[in-house]
Order: sequence, then C-alpha cells, then structure tokens
Amino acid sequence: MNAPVKAPEASAKEALVLFMPSGKRGRFAVGTPILEAARTLGVYVESVCGGRATCGRCQVEVQEGSFAKHKIVSSLDHISPRGPKEDRYNRVRGLPEGRRLSCSATIQGDLVVDVPQDVQVNAQVVRKAATDRVIERNAAVQLCYVEVEEPDMHKPLGDLDRLKAVLEKDWGWKDLLIAPHLIPQVQGILRKGNWGVTAAIHRDMDSSRPFIIGLYPGLKNEAYGIACDIGSTTIAMHLVSLLSGRIVASSGTSNPQIRFGEDLMSRVSYVMMNPDGREAMTKAVREAVNKLIGKVCAEGNVDRHDIFDCVFVGNPIMHHLFLGIDPTELGQAPFALAVSGPLQYWAQEIDIEVALGARLYMLPCIAGHVGADAAGATLSEGPYRQDKMMLLVDVGTNAEIVLGNSTRVVAASSPTGPAFEGAEISSGQRAAPGAIERVRIDPQTLEPKFRVIGVDKWSDEEGFDEAAKTTGVTGICGSAIIEVVAEMYLAGVISEDGVVDGTMAERSPRIIANGRTFSYLLRDGEPRITVTQNDIRAIQLAKAALYAGVKLLMEKQGVETVDTIRFAGAFGSFIDPKYAMVLGLIPDCELSEVKAVGNAAGTGALMALLNRNHRREIEIEVASIEKIETALEPNFQQLFVNAMAMPNKIDPFPKLSQAVTLPPRKNVSEDGIAGDATPRRRSREERAARRNRD
Ligand code: FES
Repeated sequence: MNAPVKAPEASAKEALVLFMPSGKRGRFAVGTPILEAARTLGVYVESVCGGRATCGRCQVEVQEGSFAKHKIVSSLDHISPRGPKEDRYNRVRGLPEGRRLSCSATIQGDLVVDVPQDVQVNAQVVRKAATDRVIERNAAVQLCYVEVEEPDMHKPLGDLDRLKAVLEKDWGWKDLLIAPHLIPQVQGILRKGNWGVTAAIHRDMDSSRPFIIGLYPGLKNEAYGIACDIGSTTIAMHLVSLLSGRIVASSGTSNPQIRFGEDLMSRVSYVMMNPDGREAMTKAVREAVNKLIGKVCAEGNVDRHDIFDCVFVGNPIMHHLFLGIDPTELGQAPFALAVSGPLQYWAQEIDIEVALGARLYMLPCIAGHVGADAAGATLSEGPYRQDKMMLLVDVGTNAEIVLGNSTRVVAASSPTGPAFEGAEISSGQRAAPGAIERVRIDPQTLEPKFRVIGVDKWSDEEGFDEAAKTTGVTGICGSAIIEVVAEMYLAGVISEDGVVDGTMAERSPRIIANGRTFSYLLRDGEPRITVTQNDIRAIQLAKAALYAGVKLLMEKQGVETVDTIRFAGAFGSFIDPKYAMVLGLIPDCELSEVKAVGNAAGTGALMALLNRNHRREIEIEVASIEKIETALEPNFQQLFVNAMAMPNKIDPFPKLSQAVTLPPRKNVSEDGIAGDATPRRRSREERAARRNRD
C-alpha cells in the first residue's frame, strides 16, 4: 500500500515534511495531502472514512517555528487553508483549535507535523494514562468505511463480492476473507447503511490474508482492544482505543484461582489431584477476565462488543490454564511447555465475551518457567534495544530474570517462594491498608519507626495513633519485610549470616529470646509484631534464590556487574532499591540505575495490541533469547550458599558502600553467640539450598 519514500533532495515544487513523534521525514510534491505523505513514510495516522472528511480520525497539528536540527522552518502558511470539507466537519462535529484533517489539508511548504496520541472524536471518559510511553500505532484491526455499488441486474456479482471489491479499490485490501458469522448478515447491513458500511478488518502478519471481522451500517468510528496480564495473584487490564491509542480505562482484579492454590505449584498439584481441576481453573480465570472486561467497559463507557482485539500475557502456568491446556508438565522437569510460540485465536474460542469476530493474540513464552509475561516485560523494557547490560527482574513466587543487551540476552527463573509476598513470615501479609510498608531502626537505641499503608505519618510522629485508628496496624507487607531485615542488618541486630545477635538483648528490650533463637520486636501492642529468626531465614532463602539466578546469568554473560536494573511487577513498585541491595537481592549497581517499572508485562501487552510490529519484534527476540535452567546448573548451589549472607559472602558491593555504610563483618552462630561461621552453619545453609532447589 505504501509508495517508496522519495530521496530528501530539494526541489522548487517539493517540501520537506517531518512527522513527530516518530521523526520520520521525506520530501513531497506541494499539494500532496498530509495523510498521503504520512502513509508514504509509514507514519500511522488513523482514517476510517477513507478521506471523506467525515470520521475526524486523521487529525494532526502543525508545529510552528524554526527547527534548526532538522533544517525546517515550519509555519501555518505552509499548510493549505481550511477548505469546505474541513469547514463542514467543524460545523457538524467540531475541530479543536489547531487541529487539521490530514486527509483534506495539503502540503504547501516545509512542515513539522505532530500526530497527537489523544485524538478524541467522541467525548469519552478518559482516565489518566497508565503509561506515558509513546507507542506508535499500527493496530492489527482497522476500521474502513466504504460505499458499495448497488446491485445491478446486468452485473451478477454478489453483495459481499462488491463489498470486497470496493475495500480493495478504496483501501487496498486484497484477498479478503470474512468471518463466517457475518456472511448471512451482509445483505441486511448493506441495505441498512444505504450501501455505506464500515468494515472492521484484521490483519496481523503482513503475509496473512486480511479478515473482515465486523461489518456495520454507516460510519463506525470506534474500535477498542484490551491488553491483559494474567498474574497468579492479580489480573490487570487496559482498555484501549485502537484508533487513537488512548487508554480508556485500566483496572485489576484478584485471580480467583487462588481458591485452588495460593502459588503456582499448588495449582498444578490441584490439576494433578482433581480430574476436573484444569476445567475448573480455566473457567474461573476466563470468568474473571470477562468480569474485568465488564468493569473497564463500564468505567470507559464502552460497549464490550466494540472490542475487536485482545492481547494476553501470563506466566506459563497461567498461560496454559487460560488457554485450557493442562499445565501438569510444567510442574516437573524438564518443564515442557505445550506450546511456546505466539498464538492466535478467535476470542470466542476462549470464551471471551467481546465482539463476535474479535481476535486474541497471546505473546510467546520464553521457557518452561519464563512466560509470556516475561516476554511482555522484555518487549516493554527492551534490554535487546540497547548497549547497557540490563537486568530485568519480575519478583513473584517465582522470579523471572532476563539479562542482556543488544548483543545477547539470557533468561532464567528462580524459585523465590512466597516470602516476598508476605507468606511464610510470622507477621507477613499482602499489601493492604494497615500493613507496615516502611521501617527504620535507630542504630544507637535499636528503636524502630514505621509507616503503614493508608496513613501518611510515621509511627513516631504526633497523631499517628489517631490516624491509624481506621486502618489499624495489621502486619508487614513484602516491601517492609525487605526493609526491616536490611535495617536490622545495618543496625547490627543481625550478622551478615542473618543470625539475630542475642547479646544485643542486654542493650535493648526489642531483642527478645524465642527458644534457642532471638526475635526483634517491631511493635508491642495488638497485634504484637515481631521479626523472628525463621522470618529472616525465609527472606534469606528467597533472596539467595533470586541472587543466585541473577549471578548465574551474569556468569553466562561473562560480566561482573550490570549497568542498569529494572524491577517489574507490583512488588518492585514498592521496594526501595537501596534496601534490596543491602539485603543482596540484586547485584551491586548505581542506585540511580535501579528503577521500578510497574506492570511491565502489561505494558508489553499494550505495545503488542497497539502495534502489530511489536508482536513480530518480540517473537524474533524470544526465539533468540538463551534459556538457562537454574536447576541443571552445577554451580547454582554454591552461588545460592554465598547469597545467603548479607549482602553476599563473596561478591563486593562497592557502589552500594558509597551510598550506605555497611556494618563490619561479624559472624554469629544460630544460638545468638558471636563467633566465626561454623561448618555446622554452612552445612545447614547447604541443606536449605538443596531444599529450595527441590
Ligand atoms: Fe476521515 Fe480524514 S480520514 S476525516
């Protein structure tokens, strides 16, 4: 459909046009419609009415000024004045100040043209953008308005055939297929629309035949898509306009499969133990997705039947259960995926209640424990798009780890267990109002102060008790567990081996005996919140698993350090990078280079929804990512044992040491008496390592 780009050489009758934000530019004959120039350069500007100046989808803005870097002086005089078509559109629907219809406005001189991301034709409720990233649009679904020739007794071509013919003539769609459910409706729709109809056309791969997946009388001006991340705990969804790229609503819900098992492996066990287990979990997650679609549609005032495309990501077990595939093989070595490549479905095949002809695309999985969600996060953060060595970690009950740069990318998963989510911790809980989320310990007095979710004040500030009356102080959430253990280490309460120093009990009533070990009293009251030796062990096991996985990938890459770290997922959004590093969860790195990126998997799904080229990009990338199976690596165990210490038994943390004063190394045996690390202690760690691997 696109003509070749002309060489940017000057000519009296040509002008230089630069499109933003894509930065694509080219020379065009004066008089060329701006929409045509955009198409020629491959700049995505939406058009539903085929240039009839009725849909308003092709709006652009001209930027005025001198753009020295691009050698362009752009002016409103360099675009044709508003003509009768634009005036009519303005009268009927209103054209915002500064906006032009690019199908009608023509090039009269050098121009910088802005393609706004927020073209809003019908006033809609717009929620704040879930991501401020600019995603160039090239959706797999396009709306095309056509006026079909009326039937003629002398021309025997059927109504559908004439529809296809005009779609080819006006829009360039060749070899069109049509969703079977539409065939009996074609005649009625054509007559209802008085021969003017809008076809929703789906084409994902350039090599695939385009499909008419929807047909509507008259001009239809809205098409939506959903991007959804199915997590084991939470399902997150964006509802997006495929025409403007605007996020209309974002929401989440808990994954109802939790009732079958808290973590992934218990859900696989449920399938193995119960003949109807797989069906029940598939049904539960699909129902939840459908309810969530209802929720985002209600919020965005959108009819769910206007959703034409759906992109899903999820970890391998969620991926399999959602698609109705038995995940049993993923529960045991060699962790075989039923399918690792990308998948295409009709949404109704997966029971997703949207437009009848809607399509569904599932991103590829990277490996048996590194799923389509990690592929989504990889697409979003793009380690392969840059030279820096980037570490991308998504921490859940299973940490998915990707490390690489433009030369090579490697990936693995590591069994961190649920400790980071507050499970296995005596006072642990999920992040919710009342949960302690921040902790500081005075190294002199060992007195703590903390903050709870839902209350702004610290616990030592005046008015805290009053402010916390509604929420209460109920437990410790994942981010605070990291902080409290790291603060205990920085205050000298625990040794680098993670043992609570019993001799400290003389200094502070906060150190309390607990059988043969000691605990730290974080809050005296109801409930009494302590950090026990077992809690610290659980955190050590989890962080050692994560770090050993990271370290293994660093060894594969042959690097001693990483340049930048991205924490994906909800856990990463609340974690303080400094404490994560003090604990030795992640390798040494400039603290300013450690960033939380939120639901990167969901952002990746959004990118794949709005631009089908991103689907090809991640498909190619996933095929070349090297997968490392931590369980098969002989030195994983040693790396794990080293990583039990804080921050690490062997690895230096020079950058962290510049930002934080780490305590001098001292070892304390498990019964709380200071001394060297004993062989007995090491063998216990090794046993723990083996347990964790098993
Ligand atoms: Fe529809 Fe310009 S393409 S108004």
